[in-house]
Amino acid sequence: MDEADMCSLWRYAAFECLNEECRRQYPLTEKLFACPECGDLLQVAYEPADQAPDPIRAHWRERRLSENPLDHSGVWRFRECLPPIAPRHVVTLREGNTPVYPARFSAQYAGVSNLLFKHLGFNPTGSFKDYGMTVAVSQARALGARVLICASTGNTSASMAAYAARAGMRAIVLIPSENVALGKIAQALEYGAVTLQVKGASFDDVLRLVRELSARPDVYLLNSLNPFRIEGQKTILIELLDQLGWNVPEHLVVPGGNLGNSVALFKAMEELQRLGFIARFPKLTIVQAQGANPLAEAVARGARRITPVPHPRTQATAIRIGYPVNWRRALQALEATGGFCLAVSEAEIAEAKAAIGRDGIGCEPASAATLAGIKRLREERKLAPSETIVALLTGHLLKDPEYTMRYHSGQLEDVLTGRHIRGRLANPPIPVEPRLDAVARYLYDFSLSDGR
Ligand code: F0G
Repeated sequence: MDEADMCSLWRYAAFECLNEECRRQYPLTEKLFACPECGDLLQVAYEPADQAPDPIRAHWRERRLSENPLDHSGVWRFRECLPPIAPRHVVTLREGNTPVYPARFSAQYAGVSNLLFKHLGFNPTGSFKDYGMTVAVSQARALGARVLICASTGNTSASMAAYAARAGMRAIVLIPSENVALGKIAQALEYGAVTLQVKGASFDDVLRLVRELSARPDVYLLNSLNPFRIEGQKTILIELLDQLGWNVPEHLVVPGGNLGNSVALFKAMEELQRLGFIARFPKLTIVQAQGANPLAEAVARGARRITPVPHPRTQATAIRIGYPVNWRRALQALEATGGFCLAVSEAEIAEAKAAIGRDGIGCEPASAATLAGIKRLREERKLAPSETIVALLTGHLLKDPEYTMRYHSGQLEDVLTGRHIRGRLANPPIPVEPRLDAVARYLYDFSLSDGR
């Protein structure tokens, strides 16, 4: 099948209001981030065209050999699933194409035998945000936007800044003045974004500010309430299934912050099922940090709504969010897939992160909430040891080197209890005299370092 034969999987696409009682539709060519009628969130809704899945799956495979820049992207390679955007508008850094790894140490750590990590941190800007950013920034370009803006706990701003630079657009990022990991701020600065550290503000406060600013003409919002971000992030699941030969894993585990990623994965599941690509859903489990747990708390109470956490606290700063905008759809995802939602402690996150490091992979703290959640579910017997589980690692180890150094040198504080976390996998650097005998004694005597 060549490109000329290939068309979208969709006959028709439009914005649709997510409010059951509204459901109004709007053309995708409008610049919208909320329903003009009722103010609720929007999503892209589609009418499927009549396409058989097999030839499309084969075509996606063939594209791995193509020299077309769009085919080098792990997002645009699956463009038949995306809203229509002309190739001349596409802004790509060859995002996606992230590896899937078995992980023996981590599997043992959690007490399971079939664990895979899909490491989304191996993206051009080091986090999963690039999957959505390439699509949303391309749409911004198609609409003629000139200023890109976002609120961020760090990764969104790094990603948006990079894509804005590629597109030659102005980037304004708003971040809380504290609790943003160093690597992420450094990226925003290096990519040339105007970086505003909003004094005394939390992520939730900052998001309110940018939502207001995005009403201005020319200003385009890049947070996950932008439906085009969600569209791009759907390809995380499509790429994963392509890598797994379309064998649907039993369980998919993600960290939850603003819950955009959870919603994107669920939307991909629904659409793939509707199009005949998959017959069943994996369970989608969402793991939050104990001090930023509005969804887990609502689920534990059996409530239909979340109660915002006014002062969220966690050292996993990426998910330090008290009022996630996508909570309603995330609740639906949990219900429809039979997944769990739980919150893990600061110590559980820290230990799990070090375990992922021991597999030679590593990740940033928020990503490690996944392994901590799997271990907990296993201990509570909510998970069979042989279940096939894919955990999504959302950010690269080097995003937050300060956290990692504090853990290994025994300086990491549990912000909820005020106590230091005593890392069982801590591996501090060892000062040593500049003499052969002093150094050589470490070659084989493991008891001298940390007992490994
Ligand atoms: N993991 C990492 C590394 C993140 O940066 C984020 C969110 C999440 C998980 C949670 O994803 O919001 O889709 O549930 N970071 C955002 C930011 C909020 O501004 O970079 P989510």
